[in-house]
Amino acid sequence: MATPLFSPHLISPTVTSSLPPGYTIRPLSRDDYHKGFFACIQVLTSTGDVSEARFLERYDYMKSLGVHYFVVIERQEEDGSGGTIVGTGTLMVERKFIHDLGSVAHIEEIAIRKEEQGKGLGLKMLNALSSIAKEVGCYKSILGCSPANEGFYEKCGFKRGGLDMNQYY
Ligand code: ACO
Repeated sequence: MATPLFSPHLISPTVTSSLPPGYTIRPLSRDDYHKGFFACIQVLTSTGDVSEARFLERYDYMKSLGVHYFVVIERQEEDGSGGTIVGTGTLMVERKFIHDLGSVAHIEEIAIRKEEQGKGLGLKMLNALSSIAKEVGCYKSILGCSPANEGFYEKCGFKRGGLDMNQYY
């Protein structure tokens, strides 16, 4: 049995039970490299050609920190060939000094495979991440997105909060 990145119990059972038959939503696992994890995330952006060893190194680092909650949606193939990762999303918890040592969740890397878009899986991913954020005691979740995706995040319960400023290196 593969080790999950974090306790699956942090994802609301209301969300886990809402997936269609053959689909599961769960924490990232060490064997997801072989289930098309990178092909899924590439609908969002380029990833480079990451070897399994480097994937596992990053996975172990995230697990050791205990603040990364990377979630995937897996589809079981009807031909019996196994599972395919069809959705990704991650939440990182930042512990702050303000708001009585409050915690904020940063949501990133939301991607649903092209052939699965428009079926409600993106919404379920965001619901799962929001349920984790509440469960681990965050007072809010923050994300940045393109104007083209604003309507999607509004449907997921997010409101425009201000400008997103970036500096690339
Ligand atoms: N604009 C407006 N509304 C939208 C959009 C959009 N771009 N996308 C979906 N919606 C609506 C749907 O119509 C649906 O509304 P309904 O409930 O009234 O029918 C609702 O939002 C939920 O839609 P889902 O089917 O759950 O969305 P989907 O599974 O297709 O996922 C996503 C949306 C994640 C944006 C997907 O299209 C995708 O992976 N796009 C490419 C990668 C990407 O841009 N990711 C976001 C990066 S930002 C970040 O990571 C923080």
